[in-house]
Amino acid sequence: MALVTSTEMFKKAYEGGYAIGAFNVNNMEIIQGITEAAKELNAPLILQVSSGARKYANHTYLMKLVEAAVIETGLPICLHLDHGDTFELCKSCIDGGFTSVMIDGSHHSYEDNIALTRKVVEYAHDHGVVVEGELGRLAGIEDDVNVSDADASYTQPDQVQDFVERTGVDSLAIAIGTSHGAYKFKPGQKPQLRFDILEEVGKRLPGFPIVLHGASSVIPEYVQMINENGGNMPDAIGIPEDMLRKAATMAVCKINIDSDLRLAMTGTIRKYFNEHPDHFDPRQYLKPAREAIKKMVAHKIVDVLGCDGKA
Ligand code: G3H
Ligand code: 13P
Ligand code: ZN
Repeated sequence: MALVTSTEMFKKAYEGGYAIGAFNVNNMEIIQGITEAAKELNAPLILQVSSGARKYANHTYLMKLVEAAVIETGLPICLHLDHGDTFELCKSCIDGGFTSVMIDGSHHSYEDNIALTRKVVEYAHDHGVVVEGELGRLAGIEDDVNVSDADASYTQPDQVQDFVERTGVDSLAIAIGTSHGAYKFKPGQKPQLRFDILEEVGKRLPGFPIVLHGASSVIPEYVQMINENGGNMPDAIGIPEDMLRKAATMAVCKINIDSDLRLAMTGTIRKYFNEHPDHFDPRQYLKPAREAIKKMVAHKIVDVLGCDGKA
């Protein structure tokens, strides 16, 4: 089995009323934790790399680690560029073996977003690679870009058909109230998603795969673990998992998760050091961190995405 595109995965997910997990990867332990969970549950998988991850770990290292995961698991795995912001970055990932790229033109005007996305789609499709576009702006932090609540905006359903037709994208990320990072809602605020927008988008693009970014639930167990072991995270609130489950039964076929991986890893390592202040072998604390990622991803696959047994 080689790396695959997300085309078949999304088709089956749409028809089956479930979603594929797209997990951000930055190093070997994260890749191993995610892929071991997926293997045990026979789940299809998207591993995604941000430009920050690519700068941190190097394209070739990540590529080879993901190829190793394909060999070890035998699973259909799609390797995706998360939040590509230029044609050049997308081209470099396409040329370097990724099977899917996101061109995030959501910070541009509508027409400039279309022009940039169209250019990436033409190059990607010529090379057998699929493309995710984005319409609407999520709040929160991605790479060095911090979008304030005031600058965020929901996707307008009356634009989606025109956008998809004119760009030729294979999937579309929309803004319905999710946001990047660990602080998605203010303390005391009731988490809400605009399911009415998702429903309307689904009607205008029948059968077309929709993507949810900023979809970590900010699992309280790990925030607590961080704070009980020397951390100091203020109230962190994520997307309730039952809302994600509902979205997965609708047009949402890809659910992006990064912050929950970071919290699971950091909480576990903090706890480890608190309990073993004299240890200094990285294998000793990275092993439980990898286990925590595996457990958390298994929970997402079964209880949130519903993609277990679908590989
Ligand atoms: O959406 C952003 C992802 O969480 C990636 O974060 O750009 O810090 O690697 P990063
Ligand atoms: P979270 O910060 O909610 O994990 O979102 C990750 C994401 O959307 C990556 O593109
Ligand atoms: Zn994102």
